[in-house]
Amino acid sequence: MNLLQNFSAFRPHEFTTGWRSPSNIAFVKYWGKKGHQIPANPSLSMTLKECVTETKVSFTPSDTMKVELFLDGVKEDKFAAKIEKYLLTLTDIPELKKVSYSIHTKNTFPHGTGIASSASGLSAFALCLTEFLGAKEEDFYKTASFLSRLASGSACRSVYGGFTSWGDESDYYASPFIVHPDFAHLKDSVLIVSSEEKSISSTAGHGRMSVHPFAEARFIQAKDNYQKMASALTTGDLEEMGRILESEALSLHAMMMTSPEAYTLLRPNTIAAMEMIWAFRRETKLPLYFTLDAGPNLHLIYPESHQHKIKTFISHELSKFAQRVIEDERGEGPAKC
Ligand code: PMV
Repeated sequence: MNLLQNFSAFRPHEFTTGWRSPSNIAFVKYWGKKGHQIPANPSLSMTLKECVTETKVSFTPSDTMKVELFLDGVKEDKFAAKIEKYLLTLTDIPELKKVSYSIHTKNTFPHGTGIASSASGLSAFALCLTEFLGAKEEDFYKTASFLSRLASGSACRSVYGGFTSWGDESDYYASPFIVHPDFAHLKDSVLIVSSEEKSISSTAGHGRMSVHPFAEARFIQAKDNYQKMASALTTGDLEEMGRILESEALSLHAMMMTSPEAYTLLRPNTIAAMEMIWAFRRETKLPLYFTLDAGPNLHLIYPESHQHKIKTFISHELSKFAQRVIEDERGEGPAKC
């Protein structure tokens, strides 16, 4: 299934647009791929509201491809080179090589906080590109998701609000996932344990799964967790959702620790906070759960209905393990800007 073939006759023209697109947090993790950006297992995520990238792109027909990128008004050649490399992979649309791209981008979350900007940043750019290509209205978000995936796997889930799945209906693009009304107002307080740059990138981490002795067992577990998570989210089973959420976070990090070239992105404060969350849950029976991205920072997931007591616990107890806490929640997805 190659949605880019729809644009093989595309001809460049002068065009300017802008999109704001959010980050997402995976409830079932994508970790390991087959071939070029095809996930080894299905994943499911919640789109965030506050952690957003705003990107404006001016496209101008040109003899050769040129890409310039400004992050917060500052020219960033490293990011421009990444976008150029990505655009060169889109060989089904040869005319994209005859365009000059001027990109102005900014994140609503401060750079270097430990929140990955690849899902929001690359989906924002892909949405601009989808509009430039003139995708039909009915295929617009599917195409944007397809293009986002080719830039960064998890970015393909950011083009829809609420919950999104990828690798179930299709490996090539993500789809909206409808959940029980009890999950309509989930909060995500992000405990920034460390804002240092990751020592091992996600791309390198995915790569290590191809030689991992437990890879097949992990993919079986992830497929099983996907089914269980999908069922819990559909039926409104908060406890089961939380159990799978934490199992997925711990499995992701266990894969890193048990890969032939072992490493860990967890920090002592990540573990201390996890233990405190478990104790809090045992004592209060309140539905506070955590998950982790490929990094040391904990995403604390809980329903809005319990936010008062849980936020008090976060600010009085858990915040001592963090440099800062970013308040986020389930969001509505991208919008033009
Ligand atoms: O999209 P990538 O290649 O940065 O990989 C993301 C992997 C995780 O964030 C750890 C999990 C996920 O599904 O988002």
